[in-house]
Amino acid sequence: MSFLYKADPVRGMEWARLFAAKAPDVPFHIWPDIGQADRVRYLAAWVPPPDVTGQFPNLEIFFSTGAGIDQFDLAALPPELPVVRMAEPGIVAGMVEYATMAVLAFHRDLPAYIRQQREGRWAAHRVYPASKRRVGVLGLGVLGCAVLGQLRTLGFQLSGWSRTRRQVDGVTCYAGQEELPAMLTNTDILVCLLPLTPETRGILNSTLFQHLPRGASLVHVGRGAHLDHPALLDALETGWLSGAVVDVTDPEPLPPDHPFWAHPKILLTPHIASMTQPETAVEQVLANIRRHEAGEPLIGLVDRSRGY
Ligand code: NAP
Ligand code: GLV
Repeated sequence: MSFLYKADPVRGMEWARLFAAKAPDVPFHIWPDIGQADRVRYLAAWVPPPDVTGQFPNLEIFFSTGAGIDQFDLAALPPELPVVRMAEPGIVAGMVEYATMAVLAFHRDLPAYIRQQREGRWAAHRVYPASKRRVGVLGLGVLGCAVLGQLRTLGFQLSGWSRTRRQVDGVTCYAGQEELPAMLTNTDILVCLLPLTPETRGILNSTLFQHLPRGASLVHVGRGAHLDHPALLDALETGWLSGAVVDVTDPEPLPPDHPFWAHPKILLTPHIASMTQPETAVEQVLANIRRHEAGEPLIGLVDRSRGY
């Protein structure tokens, strides 16, 4: 039996050290050194290699090294192969930090002050308490709920949206397409933490922006293909939206002449809102292997019918 890792090789070396310390009985290989292909039972990758079960006939679990799984074609993996995504504490903590930073930046007018400093302009804007600011989160999953939990400690007015009905402490919850406009109408800062599925592709479009109040801002940390780029540019141009923090784009990276790079109202980061942390990821993977061996349910198992 062996474990094969096929993702960022630098972090792979950390995984290898952690496996050696925590599971010395599990031979660990880093792609392209696959060891003996028929001994590979577990594969962790951002994107699996083609014909994964042809190459690794005894594969028992595919672990996505990301929380999202849209970066590969789920349908190309055999239906009986369990696909497990990263829902480990390190990736959650990173997203809580980033989303909170971005929400606070808009709440405290940081983008405006950065522009003013460049212009040599000293001008104070009214400071409002967090209790007057309405933050809405699209996606009430592992990440959305963790972000809301942190924002709650800061006193924001919170709402959240999911596909099925959810209850989250201190959060006004909305469900399904019909209830989305009601949430948007009451949102000053919108955070997108949805998975990319056929239903959510292109969801951040002009129709959605029009439901937000004038002057609202966007924190986009879901997936690039959620966002209609021209619609965001239009909304910023007309002042309907006042700013956007964009961590994910389609394509990644953006071409050098893309208008987002130099846009004064867009803060762009290169898909770094959160990253899988080897220490906690290896713990979760090993816990899942133990669960699998004991016939227990896996943490982060992807529901193929939902696509996330
Ligand atoms: P998750 O636990 O699977 O939660 C997904 C949430 O989205 C659930 O609440 C789900 O509703 C909701 N949802 C899905 N489809 C929907 C739809 N059509 N309409 C309304 N709500 C819908 O996922 P997660 O772990 O929180 O991660 C969310 C996403 O964050 C990932 O898929 C990935 O795209 C992104 N991400 C980005 C970064 C980054 O660095 N930028 C890092 C990690 C993850 P239900 O509750 O009803 O199922
Ligand atoms: C990163 O974007 C992830 O899905 O983990």
